[in-house]
Amino acid sequence: MSDEAPAAWFERLYRQAAAGEAEIPWDRGGPNPYVAGWFAREGVEGRGRRALVVGCGLGDDAEHVAGLGFEVTAFDVAETAVRTARARHPGSAVRYRTADLTDPPAQWAGAWDLVVESLTVQSVPRSLRPLVTRHIAGFVAPGGTLLLLAGVLPDGVDEEDGPPWRLRRDEVDAFAAAGLTAADVERFTGDDGRTRWRAVFSRAAG
Ligand SMILES: C[S@@+](CC[C@H](N)C(=O)[O-])C[C@H]1O[C@@H](n2cnc3c(N)ncnc32)[C@H](O)[C@@H]1O
Repeated sequence: MSDEAPAAWFERLYRQAAAGEAEIPWDRGGPNPYVAGWFAREGVEGRGRRALVVGCGLGDDAEHVAGLGFEVTAFDVAETAVRTARARHPGSAVRYRTADLTDPPAQWAGAWDLVVESLTVQSVPRSLRPLVTRHIAGFVAPGGTLLLLAGVLPDGVDEEDGPPWRLRRDEVDAFAAAGLTAADVERFTGDDGRTRWRAVFSRAAG
């Protein structure tokens, strides 16, 4: 895959899946257990608060967050993903939008009490990582929280022929450098044998 049109790869896959010609590897038919598990563990309650779900794919994490009481906007660069998410969740209160994380709407900056980023940063080529890290961190409102879930780039591996391009520790820490404070950074191996980062960042109340 080239750096020139990184998002086109995803649109092509979602189109093939919509035509029954491919399967979406991250379609679990429900929320990511490591996202949902964090909300359950922390006892998060969202009533009266706004959440942004980054790279929402088929919308299952966004629906989970809405179920916690948050008012949710969820976006993806792939318009077929957004169309499929709307069709999968008819009557949903989630606002599904097509938008590119490399150039998001300006009014989203500093506007969200909760930002959920699961597996999207690793879907963007490393050359764009500083830019998307800045945008994601910038979404978080004063007093707000960012939940990040991503694969761990194994020690000794310099580069991958992605997507995905999994994250190094310094790429996780870069979210703190972008104006947030790291509240918790977990590195764990799931039931599937894959090692992941789950990190939580917060912005001081204004
Ligand atoms: C591995 S999938 C994960 C989807 C979803 N977060 C989940 O866990 O089911 C990565 C998603 O990021 C989206 N994506 C890739 N580049 C993007 C960009 N520049 N802006 C917004 N979304 C992007 C893809 O279309 C895809 O839906």
